[in-house]
Amino acid sequence: MLLAQSSTQAFEAILLSSVAAVLFFGIQSAVHASSDKTRAPSTSRILSLCLAPVALFKRRARAWMFLINGPEQIQEAYDKAKGKPFFVDVPENRYLVVSSWKHIKEIDAAPDSVLSLQGAAKEILQPKYTMSSFNWLDKRGAEGTPLIRTLRTMLTNHLPDVLPDIRRAMSGLLDGMYASHPVINGVKTSQLYPMVIKSISHSNALAFFGEDLVKNEKFMKAATLFIEQTLLIAEVLRLLPKSFSNPIGKFLSSRLNSSKIIFDTLHPIAAERIDEWAKAKLGYDVPERKDCIQWVMESAPKAKPWTAERIVYELIALWFGSVHITSTTVCFALHDLCLHPEYVEPLRKEIETAGWDKFDKSGGKCFPLLDSFMKESARLTPVESVSTRRMALQPFQLSDGPKIDVGQWVCTAARGMMNDAAFFASPDEFHGFRFANPSLLASAAEKNLIPAGLVPELTNSAASAFTDISDWQLWGTGKCACPGRYYASAVMKIMLGLFLTKYDMQLTDRDASRHFAWRTFIYPYEGTTAILTPREEAA
Ligand code: HEM
Repeated sequence: MLLAQSSTQAFEAILLSSVAAVLFFGIQSAVHASSDKTRAPSTSRILSLCLAPVALFKRRARAWMFLINGPEQIQEAYDKAKGKPFFVDVPENRYLVVSSWKHIKEIDAAPDSVLSLQGAAKEILQPKYTMSSFNWLDKRGAEGTPLIRTLRTMLTNHLPDVLPDIRRAMSGLLDGMYASHPVINGVKTSQLYPMVIKSISHSNALAFFGEDLVKNEKFMKAATLFIEQTLLIAEVLRLLPKSFSNPIGKFLSSRLNSSKIIFDTLHPIAAERIDEWAKAKLGYDVPERKDCIQWVMESAPKAKPWTAERIVYELIALWFGSVHITSTTVCFALHDLCLHPEYVEPLRKEIETAGWDKFDKSGGKCFPLLDSFMKESARLTPVESVSTRRMALQPFQLSDGPKIDVGQWVCTAARGMMNDAAFFASPDEFHGFRFANPSLLASAAEKNLIPAGLVPELTNSAASAFTDISDWQLWGTGKCACPGRYYASAVMKIMLGLFLTKYDMQLTDRDASRHFAWRTFIYPYEGTTAILTPREEAA
């Protein structure tokens, strides 16, 4: 109900802001055109002046259409560009999109003071209005990068301890949700995306904040709502002319205030941790804590320790960045399990043969067939069409190509590259075991663990892991590549493994559209349903 209400409010605001911005840009360009009176008019110049508003209108209309058909527009431009960089216009900005590894390396080599991931993230999230007045700096690392160390090192090393708890909790949640699902036309019918997002939210809360907060219903409700509210507020503000941002941003954040509930819950906990840490240094006995709140605090710069407030802001950003993308990616992998049922038995056998104990001890690294299946699913249905977004803090030019001005973005054509025969053989075909090691596949086929038909015969595809960053753009690039990817991969395996071992699965309508686009992103429809039959019933 709340979601529906906030969606309607935001929809109206988006509509109003769209009209306002079209008028704003239209008037601006008309003024600009009429003020250019230095040259004498010629017939062709008069004609082009007359046509300029039409061309401008077309360009602006296309930029606005990007909101609902961004992935298509990027793909169209990608196909035309044939590997060269190209520009796309969005309502409030211009993106330079690259698709060669040479250019991607150039982006990675640029210092943070020139190309900034944080600057782009700030534009997407509008933290001043969506994160209880927190205003990030544009430049990454200016206040240390404790969150990166927390995720890449501490959380990843802690996976063998936390994965069993996550699996137990997720299994219980799935059972509870399944039991509550309605029977429609005589068949129990389950909406997949709500199951996924609730499970991922709980897993992340457990891993990041510990068990106590997972039990806090008010907090969990606000934390789940926060993601939608952030996207809605940020979208409205991105589309409005800058002069309207402050009053409208303040108004929206006062109405959609889940971030305040999160802040008010986390702040006393972070303050207590700082207090405990100070006591520990003086030799007092304090509880041993192993969660992201603790690790962020301990990894902050020693010379300038972070305040409780600063720690909480970082955790809120972590929450936003981790729940949404993981839920959407795993949801499309679940759809793929329903659409390619021939993979179900081999994947079940892999999980049941290796066992969860081995999985936990490996920190989520085992199950190579499932790993490959997830990678193929994300390759063919990537949630994000672009990756490696960087905002120019100073003008930036590719070695042999176009230049971008301050404020414009450069990014990579992640989806285009993943679906291009130059990078992946037979790119339109789904081969769930495309990325598995060929010798592993041969031996599994020999032992009849997988049918020979599922061993792909592809020429230029090499074995690689889901978390690798060298052959695709899912996780971004180099020093900024996603530090949460080992955790994300492990949690996705747990979720898919639980669905595989608990249920036989079938989409209620396998031909129905399963997602819609907003900007560069695709979102799964909440209403996509599946018939899940508990395996003991099916037997
Ligand atoms: C399937 C799930 C996920 C995908 C596809 C994904 C993808 C990405 C991408 C593309 C980037 C930007 C990298 C760049 O621009 O070079 C990124 C950054 C980041 N991700 Fe993820 N991510 C996922 C899950 C997670 C999770 C679960 C966490 C936390 C545990 C996380 C934490 C972060 C953080 C903190 C950054 C910013 C890194 C920095 O500032 O250097 N992500 N992620």
